[in-house]
Amino acid sequence: MAFEILVNGASHRVETDPETSLLSVLRNQLGLTGSKYGCGEGQCGACAVLIDGRAVRSCITPVKHAAGRHVTTIEGLARNGKLHPVQQGFLDADALQCGYCTPGMVMSAVALLAKDPHPTDAAIRRGMEGNVCRCGTYPRIVAAVRMASKGAAR
Ligand code: FES
Ligand code: FES
Repeated sequence: MAFEILVNGASHRVETDPETSLLSVLRNQLGLTGSKYGCGEGQCGACAVLIDGRAVRSCITPVKHAAGRHVTTIEGLARNGKLHPVQQGFLDADALQCGYCTPGMVMSAVALLAKDPHPTDAAIRRGMEGNVCRCGTYPRIVAAVRMASKGAAR
């Protein structure tokens, strides 16, 4: 089947089985490899992207659910060469080691801050608890989101 999906503001026509995962389409058909394949079962958050502003696990989201909707991936966050405040916060807080979880963490944080622009640390931890970091950088991730929320990231 053919689908029209809007990714990072650009329209794409993809032909695939409707049950194919959105992650697979993004990575293999559109060449957007920022979103990562971790568990493939909706458990780790490495593949998180936004659909109409809501964070979803793209590894378990059939592409048919993204048809006609706005998908945002990590590649779509920077504007005019300037990182999104959450991306900048992750850099400034040194909130990554291997970086594999980072795109998903950033996308989940963007969705969290859209809902709650000034979360407490407890709210950040709650909002991010579905994202797994095997390197254990959680305290720095909380600091990164806090920095982004305060506009402290430059
Ligand atoms: S790869 Fe999608 S949740 Fe783990
Ligand atoms: S920085 Fe390595 S998995 Fe999070």
